[in-house]
Amino acid sequence: SADLIETAKQLAAYQAVDHYVNPQVRVLGVGSGSTIVYAIHRLAEQRAQLHPDLVCIPTSFQSRQLLIEAGFRVGDLDEFPQVDVTIDGADEVDAQLNVIKGGGAAQLREKVVAAASKVFVIVADHRKDSTHLGQQWTKGVPIEVIPFAYNTVMAQIATLRPTSTTAVFEQNAPTVTLRMALRKAGPVITDNGNFVLDAHFGLIYAPGQLFDQLIRIPGVVEVGLFCGMAAKAYFGKADGTVVSR
Ligand code: A5P
Repeated sequence: SADLIETAKQLAAYQAVDHYVNPQVRVLGVGSGSTIVYAIHRLAEQRAQLHPDLVCIPTSFQSRQLLIEAGFRVGDLDEFPQVDVTIDGADEVDAQLNVIKGGGAAQLREKVVAAASKVFVIVADHRKDSTHLGQQWTKGVPIEVIPFAYNTVMAQIATLRPTSTTAVFEQNAPTVTLRMALRKAGPVITDNGNFVLDAHFGLIYAPGQLFDQLIRIPGVVEVGLFCGMAAKAYFGKADGTVVSR
């Protein structure tokens, strides 16, 4: 049920905060999405045990607002280019801790903050825990593009093929859509003024190779595949336990 999912998200977020955000953490990256809301709740609860000069680096308008409301000092990478730990949500995590992100269209800043972090930790509920990407998350890989290029990027993605020797992905031909806004007649505009494409590949067997193919298409700003970046993932389960790997 929806309640069990929310409890699962909360438990995963609380465990990750309790394990990783010790008093030595001065600069903390804070991701986006519905699970991160619980991580911010836990940070607020634990405030007395945190670094006295803690600075949080938000990855979106959403997390910036939540952090300010909770009374945390927010900073940016201009002043704090090295992040000690980042905690973020995920749309799906595979057996090697490769991750799909960007269900909330925040993948570009999330990727930049994750790359600036010594330790990158994922928090999610059990529905995100997969062997291969594309297994449970069926909304595709979010790809941020500059508006000028969206249609040519869509056309070029559609020409990608799984390849004959080792399969990079399952589907014979990818399908791509421009993400449309819910309560506006037009596309989603990211925090950086860009569009988001959602590209479907079926199962993704080699996410690193797929990332390499997508990122070199001119007009692509960032791809919501986070390969080899996460050190740990916490998954909340419906029975109230948390598994980490
Ligand atoms: C934001 O763009 C995403 O990368 C989120 O981190 C991801 O969609 C997870 O969100 P939930 O915690 O709401 O599932």
